[in-house]
Amino acid sequence: MNVSDIDAANLRATADIDPAAEGRAAALHPQFRSRWSPRALSGAGLTEHEVLTLLEAARWAPSCFNEQPWRFVYALRDTPEWPGLLETLVEGNRQWADRAGALIAVASRTTFERNGQPAPTHAFDAGAAWMSLALQAHHQGLVAHGMRGFDVEAASRALGLGEGYALWAIIAVGRPGSRDALPAPLRERETPSPRKPLPAIAFRGSFTGLS
Ligand SMILES: Cc1cc2nc3c(=O)[nH]c(=O)nc-3n(C[C@H](O)[C@H](O)[C@H](O)COP(=O)(O)O)c2cc1C
Repeated sequence: MNVSDIDAANLRATADIDPAAEGRAAALHPQFRSRWSPRALSGAGLTEHEVLTLLEAARWAPSCFNEQPWRFVYALRDTPEWPGLLETLVEGNRQWADRAGALIAVASRTTFERNGQPAPTHAFDAGAAWMSLALQAHHQGLVAHGMRGFDVEAASRALGLGEGYALWAIIAVGRPGSRDALPAPLRERETPSPRKPLPAIAFRGSFTGLS
């Protein structure tokens, strides 16, 4: 199934709960519905210029007090930093992410630079930056697949990330590869994911969600 099949199936499945969803979905910029997180990567390297272009997009994200608390540490394939970061991934991620062209760690500073006080939205801000990165990667024809499946302490050590920074995710970025090259269980899962219908997550006036 391709992205539009999944999208159509998703809309059909929720049509009784939210019949207007299809009309709204048609109004979206195509980037939101066509981006997804494949695991099939080609194994080709990325240039530093390509990676920095993604981070250029990330740095334009909005943030509380414009503090820009996001920090990125990246390892390019076939460089001395690559194996040390790759080995912090859980096996289930390493088995496909080893064909990425770069691994980009997303962290954030936990206190404001302006006054040293705890920054309550540093995670939210870093999340916004990661999404900009992901959309820019999609625009460049690259895969950007976020991962939390890694040893946070080992990765922080490998990255040289000290006190005062929280490590959120490692992003596998690469050129799309063949689904057939994936191990069988991952091949089965190599499809875009559905989404919850809007009435399950958006409420007018007050929160009435049951879960
Ligand atoms: C913070 C974060 C952590 C994730 N961790 C993993 C992971 O460790 N391994 C993995 O294969 N996918 C991981 N994912 C990918 C999600 O499973 C995926 O984004 C989600 O199912 C939605 O699918 P889509 O991105 O294809 O639309 C992660 C995504 C995010 C944003």
